[in-house]
Amino acid sequence: MGDLPVPRPFLKWAGGKAQLADALMERAPIRFHAYHEPFVGSGALFFRLYRERRIDRAVLSDINAELIDAYLAIRDHVAEVIRILTEFPYSKEFYYEIRSKDPWALSLPERAARMIYMNKTAYNGLYRVNQRGQFNVPFGRYKSPNYLDRENLLEVSQALQNVEIICAPFETVLDRAKPGDWVYFDPPYVPVSRTANFTSYYANGFRLQDQERLREVCIGLSRNNVYVMLSNSDTVIVRSLYAALHFAIDEVLANRAINCNGAKRDKVTELVITNYPVERAVQLRLLEQRAPYLVFREHHPDRASWETALSHRDERET
Ligand SMILES: C[S@@+](CC[C@H](N)C(=O)[O-])C[C@H]1O[C@@H](n2cnc3c(N)ncnc32)[C@H](O)[C@@H]1O
Repeated sequence: MGDLPVPRPFLKWAGGKAQLADALMERAPIRFHAYHEPFVGSGALFFRLYRERRIDRAVLSDINAELIDAYLAIRDHVAEVIRILTEFPYSKEFYYEIRSKDPWALSLPERAARMIYMNKTAYNGLYRVNQRGQFNVPFGRYKSPNYLDRENLLEVSQALQNVEIICAPFETVLDRAKPGDWVYFDPPYVPVSRTANFTSYYANGFRLQDQERLREVCIGLSRNNVYVMLSNSDTVIVRSLYAALHFAIDEVLANRAINCNGAKRDKVTELVITNYPVERAVQLRLLEQRAPYLVFREHHPDRASWETALSHRDERET
């Protein structure tokens, strides 16, 4: 991650999308108004879009309040966050001292500095909380962890200046997204096996009912002509959730941790689901025809049928 140009994610995050970013970029709508990312995590796709100047307006949200506070602190008080991090020594004693602090008793910049410090110095660099929502990862014993990446923090702050940053559950995007906006959902994945556990991002986990609600939200957005892209695991559950209606399901290869401690890595396929055709040519034709952003009302079950749908429509209209 440190190899990426700035601004890049300032946290290491479970399910971070840095290595899937190419595949996701290829599937972006050619044109869109505001960009929404309701499971923002470390925001890998947001920073990539920003670097490539694809974003005019953005709304980033997540249910994790500490994470959202870190974004707010960097956007509004970056100098203070950097100053505090400069004063943090790298030692096991200090790690446990700062870990024991109640984040909600700290100021906003202190809370962000604590999170960044622990994220970069904790074992495996993961954010994990216990049942009471407390960070419980042991010290990581790195040689020289880069918890003070001044240049990146300044660039991240710059990138966030006109961004709306909200702590909220994903459903609330329905109230914010307007026709022509683009929403990218990267939810906690449906586990690929019984032992794999990708769901413990926050104390309550993300259950099947949440995946079903997310599908309903995707349908609601489609009805409002909002572009939707979603990534998830290549599982029967996900395929059947998005099988019908107007969703296109694409397989992509990812190099991903396939068990819960991240030690075992392998190439696995993941799914990228969109409610619009991903092919540039088809999108351009739609735009040229000043057609609605989407053709979802015509209910075509797979990607190949977008073209057929369009030619049938052309025939009807001539
Ligand atoms: C797979 S991670 C996102 C990773 C992100 N794309 C990245 O590049 O780092 C999932 C995120 O969803 C958030 N989350 C879990 N349940 C949520 C909910 N009900 N509403 C909104 N966000 C939620 C978690 O806090 C976590 O940050």
